[in-house]
Parts: sequence; C-alpha cells; structure tokens
Amino acid sequence: MGFRILGTGSALPARSVANDEFSSFLDTSDEWIFPRTGIKSRRLCTTETLDELANAAAERALAAAGVDPSELDLIICSTTSGDHLMPAQACAIAEGIGASCPAFDVSAACAGFVFALDVADGYFARGRVRTVLVVAAEKVSRLLDWTDRATCVLFGDGAAAAVLGADGANPLAVSVSTEPGVDVLHVPGVPGTSPYDETERPEPHLAMEGRRVFKFAVGTICSSVIELAQQAGVSVEDIDHFVFHQANERILSSAVARLGIDDAKVVRSLAETGNISSACIPLALDRLARSGGLAEGDLVALVGFGAGLDTGACLLRWG
Ligand code: ACO
Repeated sequence: MGFRILGTGSALPARSVANDEFSSFLDTSDEWIFPRTGIKSRRLCTTETLDELANAAAERALAAAGVDPSELDLIICSTTSGDHLMPAQACAIAEGIGASCPAFDVSAACAGFVFALDVADGYFARGRVRTVLVVAAEKVSRLLDWTDRATCVLFGDGAAAAVLGADGANPLAVSVSTEPGVDVLHVPGVPGTSPYDETERPEPHLAMEGRRVFKFAVGTICSSVIELAQQAGVSVEDIDHFVFHQANERILSSAVARLGIDDAKVVRSLAETGNISSACIPLALDRLARSGGLAEGDLVALVGFGAGLDTGACLLRWG
C-alpha cells in the first residue's frame, strides 16, 4: 500500500549571488561565509515568482514520471514562503499546470518535504490516491532581514518536486517529531492593518539562534538515521545515500563524523544554492537522480530538520 517515486524535477532562479557580492552592503566576506557554512553562492529570485518556479519544478517532475496533470489525484506543496497566504501554494500549482485534483499546503519549515511525503503516504495507505505530486517551493529571500549578516547570507530560493505512484513499498521507515522551540528559529510577524489589533507586531523577518539550531541539527540527524535503520531492520551501513537538509556543511560533516558513515554517501547541493528550506531535500534528490547516481534498489535516507523544531525523516527504496 506504499508509494514509489516515479520522477523528480527542480527549478532555480537565474540569478546567482556569490558571497563577495554581499560585501557591498554588509560587513561580511567569502572568507567568513564559506569556511563556516560551505556556501559559495545562492540563487535569488529577481523577476521570477514562486508560482513560476513551483510550476516549472512540477512540470519537470511530471515529464520525468511520464504523468499527465490530469492523472493527478492530489497535490501537496511544502512551503513557508509562498506567493499567497491564501489560497495554498498548491492551488496555484494546480492552476498553473492544469490539474483539477485537491491541493493543499503543508507547513513544517525545512522538514516540510518529508512531512508532505508522510501525509501523502496516508492517502496511499487508505487507497484514496494512485498518483500524487509533492512540491517544495521556497522564496526564503522574502523572509530575510537583509541588514542581518548572520542570517541573510545562509539562504536561497528554489523549488523541487516528486511524483509518487501507488503500488510501491515506500516508505520503509518514517520518523516525524517536534521538539517545541518556537523562538529558536522563526519568522515572528505577519503583516496586518486591523485597527482593533492591540498585540505587538514584530517584524516579519527570519530570526534564529544559530548555535542552538546547529546542535539540534546534528543530534536529530544522527538519532533519525539510527531510528530509520532500526525501524526498517537494516544497518546504517546498508544505506546507500543520505540526503540531509542542506543548512550548513559543518552540520553535515559533524553528523558524518558522529555516525561514522562514508562521507561519499552524503549528498551535497548547498555550495551553489544555500539553504532553500524544504526545497533542499527534493532538489538534492533530483540532482542525484538526474546524474545517474541512484540505482534500482538503492536505500535512500532523507532527514529534514528546522523551525518548530521539526524533524522529518524517512527511508526509501529507489525504483
Ligand atoms: N559575516 C561576518 N561576520 C559574521 C557573519 C557574517 N555573515 N555572521 C555572523 N558574524 C559574526 C557575528 O556578528 C559575531 O560577531 P561578534 O563576535 O563580533 O559578535 C561572530 O561572527 C560570531 O557569530 P555567531 O552567530 O556566534 O557565529 P557562529 O560561529 O555561531 O556561526 C552560523 C553562525 C554559521 C549561522 C552557525 O551558528 C551555524 O551554522 N548555525 C546553524 C544554523 C543554520 O545553519 N541555520 C540555517 C537555517 S536553519 C535550518 O535550516 C534548520
């Protein structure tokens, strides 16, 4: 009653912004950013809307899967930075690609793609769907305080998608969790002009306790991988690819060292994209699939983590 991944796709904005470009308006440099994060550049939206990126990623995933939009039974989009507060970004995707199935969003920050897979899995388990499109689309640049060098240098924009089909064995294991910590990483303000609203209205900019996120990230990657392996009855060494959320190279290398896994199995895509929140995992998966890096039967562990503090992890068998 599980699913299999039929195809993936992704889309990034055209404009690449290198670390040194920030030096023109921030007290920062490539010498600070690259060694601490592993990020060299990121793609940022200029003329592109998130609707356009999400639709392009969806269309590429549908083409790779050989699925027509009319065959979709459900569209789920993971986003916290959509073009619309209402309706869901997924509804705009349905309109953009010409689908007429139910569509809604999932909000679980950087863990959102895995949460969305888990939601989709429930629909497959209940026999309600045969084909599902899961998209993660993020225009994080709109949430940033561009005067804060500690956060704005870390992120980028982009979208990626996967088409899921019925009659697969996935997921082999799933783990989703929330370790409540709203203030650790959040965008506190939502714009509003009600003359009756007497509450405080903080700025709608991303704020985070970087070191706390770092510790949480390394710990949750390691515990999630071990839990996935235990649930699936395999050893960690049996896993062929690790697709972790791409927040920071030092988070990835710390987790690799603590788990004692082969570094070559850990997918990296953040050097030229930065942290694209929930779009990181499907983007890395799409690159791996298109580069021929995934063989039939490979075991792939996905671990997303971020604001919440949410963690979403699952183990997939490719093909
Ligand atoms: N350029 C130059 N200096 C900077 C920059 C920058 N871009 N950013 C911060 N600094 C300065 C600070 O102002 C501070 O200066 P001070 O000592 O004079 O006050 C100094 O560097 C140290 O600042 P910290 O914030 O303590 O730097 P830290 O060593 O913790 O590194 C970082 C910051 C890279 C964000 C780190 O905390 C980290 O990797 N955290 C993980 C969180 C993460 O990656 N979040 C991404 C989003 S969350 C997610 O996706 C789950």
